[in-house]
Amino acid sequence: MSDDSRPSPATARAEARTAVVIPAAGRGVRLGPGAPKALRALNGTPMLIHAVRAMAASRAVSLVVVVAPPDGAAEVKSLLDAHALPERTDFLVVPGGAERQDSVKLGLDALPPDYDIVLVHDAARPLVPVDTVDAVIEAVRDGAPAVVPALPLADTVKEVEPASAAGDPEPVVATPERARLRAVQTPQGFDRATLVRAHETIIDNVTDDASMVEQLGLTVVVVPGHEEAFKVTRPLDLVLAEAVLARRRLNDGF
Ligand code: CTP
Ligand code: MG
Repeated sequence: MSDDSRPSPATARAEARTAVVIPAAGRGVRLGPGAPKALRALNGTPMLIHAVRAMAASRAVSLVVVVAPPDGAAEVKSLLDAHALPERTDFLVVPGGAERQDSVKLGLDALPPDYDIVLVHDAARPLVPVDTVDAVIEAVRDGAPAVVPALPLADTVKEVEPASAAGDPEPVVATPERARLRAVQTPQGFDRATLVRAHETIIDNVTDDASMVEQLGLTVVVVPGHEEAFKVTRPLDLVLAEAVLARRRLNDGF
């Protein structure tokens, strides 16, 4: 009997279905007082809806799991119902946890069995272009267990000995070579089994999902990120996000 009748692992990955988990359960403390960050409006539409549309814009994505603020799942469900989203994409909403890592885990727990590629995307990066999403999926399909989009840094970065009181001068410990550094964005893409194992194994508080896979000793690869995939973190970022949307609207008009 020929082996040709069975898909090779590479073929299986190429045909794998892709789901996205969107952690959107944060408060947005650095943005200042107001609604949870993901529910704040950008040009009249909630940031979360922009983020969901950015993921659903990829033809490869067939399920989006939104991890809502712990007491906001019903509100998020009705927001998704109220906004036009592509027919081909299914949606699930689950309540989130205290830390981002907990929220991602709750999203992963809700994934149906038949998705072998998982992307994790911050609701706080509402404007990531579809080409970046597709590039991440492509690299996972090509066999990488974990993929992150990233950009070179504009600023030089210093490692310091953090001061105990805010505002005190901090001694510089080291200056890493800037050309070797990358600022990491989302969506980050994973072989699902690998990401699940990472969440079961790593209990440290981490700021991104790929670092958990690094801690398993597996190779994480970087693909080019995009300026418009920046994270809305502080009030000035809202101004930038609305300017990007205004520029897109202008360009679409011609
Ligand atoms: N997030 C989450 N659950 C948490 C904390 C964060 O799902 N317990 C999500 C946020 O909603 C956001 C993403 O993780 O989409 C990235 O986190 P960040 O930008 O830090 O958002 P917030 O935690 O909301 O902001 P802040 O740290 O300023 O409070
Ligand atoms: Mg946070």
